[in-house]
Amino acid sequence: MLEENPQQIYLRSILNKLTTIATRGESIMKNISSLVANAQKNKHDEAWLEFNSVDERVQKRRYGTTQAAELAGISHSLLYAAEEDGRLPKPEYRTDTVKKVRSGYTMNHINHMREVFGTAPRKPEGENAAIIGVLNLKGGSQKTTNTQLFAQHLARRGYRVLLLDTDPQGSLSLFFGKIPDDTVNYEHTMAPYMLEDEDALIEAGYEEGASETLHYAIQKTYWSNIDIIPSCLQNLNIDLLLPKMQEKADTNAMQRVMKLRYGLVGVSEDYDFILVDGTPSLNISTVNVISACDMCFVPTPAAMMDYASTLKFTGLIRDSIQSYDEINFYPNIPDIRYFITKYTRSSYAQFMGQLIRKVFTVERGDVLSNEAYASDEIGKANNSIYTIYEQNPSESDNRKRLKTTIEMFDNLYTEMHDAVWETCFEDALKTSQIDKIDQIMANAQAESEAQSKETVSLEREE
Ligand SMILES: Nc1ncnc2c1ncn2[C@@H]1O[C@H](COP(=O)(O)OP(=O)(O)OP(=O)(O)O)[C@@H](O)[C@H]1O
Ligand SMILES: [Mg+2]
Repeated sequence: MLEENPQQIYLRSILNKLTTIATRGESIMKNISSLVANAQKNKHDEAWLEFNSVDERVQKRRYGTTQAAELAGISHSLLYAAEEDGRLPKPEYRTDTVKKVRSGYTMNHINHMREVFGTAPRKPEGENAAIIGVLNLKGGSQKTTNTQLFAQHLARRGYRVLLLDTDPQGSLSLFFGKIPDDTVNYEHTMAPYMLEDEDALIEAGYEEGASETLHYAIQKTYWSNIDIIPSCLQNLNIDLLLPKMQEKADTNAMQRVMKLRYGLVGVSEDYDFILVDGTPSLNISTVNVISACDMCFVPTPAAMMDYASTLKFTGLIRDSIQSYDEINFYPNIPDIRYFITKYTRSSYAQFMGQLIRKVFTVERGDVLSNEAYASDEIGKANNSIYTIYEQNPSESDNRKRLKTTIEMFDNLYTEMHDAVWETCFEDALKTSQIDKIDQIMANAQAESEAQSKETVSLEREE
């Protein structure tokens, strides 16, 4: 038997160590929900634990009747009447009380009410969904957290949201109950579409032609109006194989850069917003991700190193556009806005905030006026795998703080929503209003012509 050399021995020892860690880690991954729940045993009763271990990814936040009716945009009495006459399902009751007490309504119930009564807000008719990126090369700049919270903010308001996880780490997917490299594999990600890998999809049981659009990759989540295209480590294949594939496929430059945008526009009909969570790395698909978006929000932490890296990211986009411009090549480029994250009341953060505003504001609105404050509530919520929007106030150890945190982040996401609306939909609304006016005037014209003809023929008859 050949003797192993010291390097080989070293390599194998590292390999063994990493394999052990990966195996242990993965086994924990599958049970993480119940472990988290168990760790909170002293805070919750058995029923709560049972409820959460059956299916961790459920909507546990419940709203009372008045709040539910208000959110659904209907009256209290209509809600009762509709439950009575079958337009809405019968209410659920608590099982732990002697008196008959309603257990309240989840966001999914409320969204169902909105559907039944047509009160859900929608993008303007005939428009594609607005495609919004939350992008920055800087790791930990809070891309995923803000994508997830913005999605839930929009979904709470009744919009239909599609999430695209482009990060091979798959954190956003995991949050929505899709476990990267376990329940999410290559054939569930955007990779086969990007790589036109029809064979992989056929092998996974999809119909012929599946790789031509992104429909195959859309999965439902436990929020009825949030769907997701998940990600896992194998999304890295996109960067490894895309250039080779595109060379072989003999595609032109526009098709290469806009591949992701075409895919997202192709599935945008049933959504109002598509949110894209970016990766903290610079790669080929970064250019595709940027060009896919109508708008892009760049989380910029109020800290010197993060600021420097955000600047680099901005320089990178500038360089790409410049090189496009030199060859008269004009793919889609998003409207870019910045927002300050990791903000606190400390004088350092305040100073960094001012600096960011000074540097990144060229036109009004370039840096959003609301900041994403560093918040214990967000950190705590992330640890318990339920966001601030999903917590029941009664379960919070500081109701007041939870409420103010929600208000603060609602302000930020309302500002984002309004900026998106103005950029992506306002013109469409204006045009459609103008179209309507044209239509009304044309109808009036036709009517008056018809009337005058009638008068003439009556006069003739006389
Ligand atoms: N407002 C906040 N207050 C406190 N902690 C926060 C806040 N937002 C996010 N965090 C925490 O900061 C960490 C990094 O956030 P997140 O994962 O969203 O960053 P990211 O930019 O997506 O990272 P990556 O570059 O690795 O994808 C997470 O642990 C998250 O819980
Ligand atoms: Mg992330």
